[in-house]
Amino acid sequence: MKRAGILINPFVTTESELYQPRRIAEELELLGVHAEIVPNAWKAQIGRDKIEMPCFDGYDFCVLLDKDKYVPRMLEKCGMRLFNPAAAVELCDDKMLTHIALAGVVPMPQTYPAPLCYKEEVPDEPVPLPLDFPVVVKECFGSLGKQVYLARDRAELAALSKALRRRPYLLQEYIAESAGRDVRAICVGGEIVACMKRTAEGDFRSNLSLGGRGEPYPADEEMKSLCAKVSSCLGLDYCGVDLLFGKDGYLVCEVNSNAFFSGIERVTGVNVARAYAEYMIRTVEGKI
Ligand SMILES: Nc1ncnc2c1ncn2[C@@H]1O[C@H](COP(=O)(O)OP(=O)(O)OP(=O)(O)O)[C@@H](O)[C@H]1O
Ligand SMILES: [Mg+2]
Repeated sequence: MKRAGILINPFVTTESELYQPRRIAEELELLGVHAEIVPNAWKAQIGRDKIEMPCFDGYDFCVLLDKDKYVPRMLEKCGMRLFNPAAAVELCDDKMLTHIALAGVVPMPQTYPAPLCYKEEVPDEPVPLPLDFPVVVKECFGSLGKQVYLARDRAELAALSKALRRRPYLLQEYIAESAGRDVRAICVGGEIVACMKRTAEGDFRSNLSLGGRGEPYPADEEMKSLCAKVSSCLGLDYCGVDLLFGKDGYLVCEVNSNAFFSGIERVTGVNVARAYAEYMIRTVEGKI
């Protein structure tokens, strides 16, 4: 019998946070793989002459649900197959790195990395603003829409720049046609397995966690092609791709390597955990 470890953040404790690893474990078990949930804390060390991580001995593969970048790299150095690979999770965790990797591969909103500021006081106008207002401001590390802001004028941008000066962030063209709506596609092995449109009332961000409403949405050819390119370019086995409605077609907004699937499972009725478990088993058996 094959064995799999499901690596989760050690501070994940609530029922809703544990839903995803438990569902993946359940589907792997149903398909004949013994799956164990492993909190990622103090289980790996660089020894005097080699990496030591006995807790992972005997696993045929690991499902990476944490965003830590060190233990996954240590696991890969020891020959472990990770779903998703460490490099893919790193690229997705940092929104600016994702945009750089996808530049020229798929269409995206115009995006500028913000200059870093090492001073205590931020000068009012460090550089001329390259985009018209309103402008989207995003922290490079963020999720659930919580670190995404809209600056409607210079004063709002100045306040945000000041608040974010110690963190990497980006400025992005505001896609007005897509205000309060976007598409979330869940992809396994580069193919869309579930797709929904998200609509918000009174907010430009359509995240379900912020009150957005989801409805099933048919995946069209343009979307399928974009998601295949995104998955292959970033090296992802599994991801959630957010697409904005641009004037001339979809624009890739961001890519989530660790996309939660409980919301989209509820909206579409698709068993995402099953699709991912089947894909992982086919891959380790060399059938993909
Ligand atoms: N450039 C933009 N123009 C218009 N709307 C945008 C733009 N960027 C983001 N949005 C809206 O804000 C939402 C949140 O943005 P984004 O997906 O980048 O953030 P997030 O916090 O990483 O979300 P997630 O929960 O998917 O991790 C998007 O789903 C979309 O509705
Ligand atoms: Mg998003």
